[in-house]
Amino acid sequence: MNARTRVLTGITTTGTPHLGNYVGAIRPALRLAAQPDTDAFFFLADYHALIKCDDPERIARSRLEIAATWLACGLDPARVTFYRQSDIPEIPELAWLLTCVTAKGLMNRAHAYKAAVDANTAQGEDADAGIGMGLYSYPVLMAADILLFGARQVPVGRDQVQHIEMARDIAQRFNHLYGGGKALLALPDAVVDEDVATLPGLDGRKMSKSYDNTIPLFAGGPRALEDAIARIVTDARRPGEPKDPDSNALCAIYRAFATRAEGDAFAADLRAGLAWGEAKQRLTACIEAEIGPKRERYDRMTVTNYPEEALREGAEKARKLAMPLLAKLRHAVGLRAPQAGSAQVMRSNASARVGRFVTFRGKDGHFHFRFLGADGADLLLSVPFDTPKAAADWVQVLDKAGGAASFVWGPDNLHLRIAEHVGGQAFELWFMHERLAEAGPYANADARDAAMLQLVDALETRWRALAAAQP
Ligand code: TRP
Repeated sequence: MNARTRVLTGITTTGTPHLGNYVGAIRPALRLAAQPDTDAFFFLADYHALIKCDDPERIARSRLEIAATWLACGLDPARVTFYRQSDIPEIPELAWLLTCVTAKGLMNRAHAYKAAVDANTAQGEDADAGIGMGLYSYPVLMAADILLFGARQVPVGRDQVQHIEMARDIAQRFNHLYGGGKALLALPDAVVDEDVATLPGLDGRKMSKSYDNTIPLFAGGPRALEDAIARIVTDARRPGEPKDPDSNALCAIYRAFATRAEGDAFAADLRAGLAWGEAKQRLTACIEAEIGPKRERYDRMTVTNYPEEALREGAEKARKLAMPLLAKLRHAVGLRAPQAGSAQVMRSNASARVGRFVTFRGKDGHFHFRFLGADGADLLLSVPFDTPKAAADWVQVLDKAGGAASFVWGPDNLHLRIAEHVGGQAFELWFMHERLAEAGPYANADARDAAMLQLVDALETRWRALAAAQP
């Protein structure tokens, strides 16, 4: 079994991407995602964007621009699970479950919140003036983003490391309260890439929207790139005069787009008297060689609904993992699907209130199994098997896999897939590469999703009961 590392990171959807975002975040993330041992999840953190921005037009524009930017830069949605936070209802639902186990004192210590309080205090304001619950609970939402997908590695900038540590704390507390010895939630680690240089902006300080010193990535086309580079601050040395290549941002930006040898040659030419104007032209050409084809892709893409479609498919992929985990967590905290005669839920005879498998011979002459919920509802029908034993054996395999103490839903184990062949309104149960059973078609996607949740919940209930009945 190839155990790929699940890597996840969120992209806050505010502002228009600039070269600093490209060099510091987009390019390294896409390189990481291209590694064969990485199972990457990248998402647009548009719920997080709401915390900082109350302009609906900007929110809407930014989330599309940023999706198209990542796709144009080479994100392959067939390889990377690429989705939008607000398309995954399980995220805010998990955020609430986590909120209930998160110590208020932990949130009091979050840097972003503390900085806002300090700023208020310094100005003689009430400590919490202007601070919304969104900012305060920000780390809990972020923990939900990470924990819902069992991410092990979270590539982030330094400023975010504390948030990942908080996600770990929260996961540990949840596991302790509800896991009964099992790790319901996997513990993530922050990954800070020391090799990624921060790109200087026009004035030599870190390139950042808040310093107003950025060079746009795609916006404005090649002209805007050229204009911005023309504004890089240099000294007054004239053509032919030796220049210090490190006296401004030119060389550092050049190096971010060139090989080491090219960067050394550029610096040597400046020392030998290359004119600033010509150096800027060379820099523009060097960036354009990497960015130009991507910008063309971006421009073509933004007039199609490809980004939107990619995100929709990404959300479906993501939810197939999210739904079963959330069902398990809801179950763990006691939010369980109503059982037939729920007054008797406490009855000790477990088998009376859990779903069961039945095997039978169908009209097609083949053998099948069904899974019936506790109330007898027909939740799943197997593919045909040639012998009754084959059907019964698979039932055993399912119970064994699901009842294992280490059981988690996933592609290397049991998982659900939305069935494409009936317009996506049905779903299937797979065991690794084996398609075992299906359910539906349902009237619409909502009904299908509800049925998936119901099935997962009923199966989990059965497997817990089996595990509990074991001596
Ligand atoms: N807070 C992150 C930032 O501002 C974005 C983010 C939201 C994120 N959710 C996440 C990053 C989950 C990593 C994992 O950069």
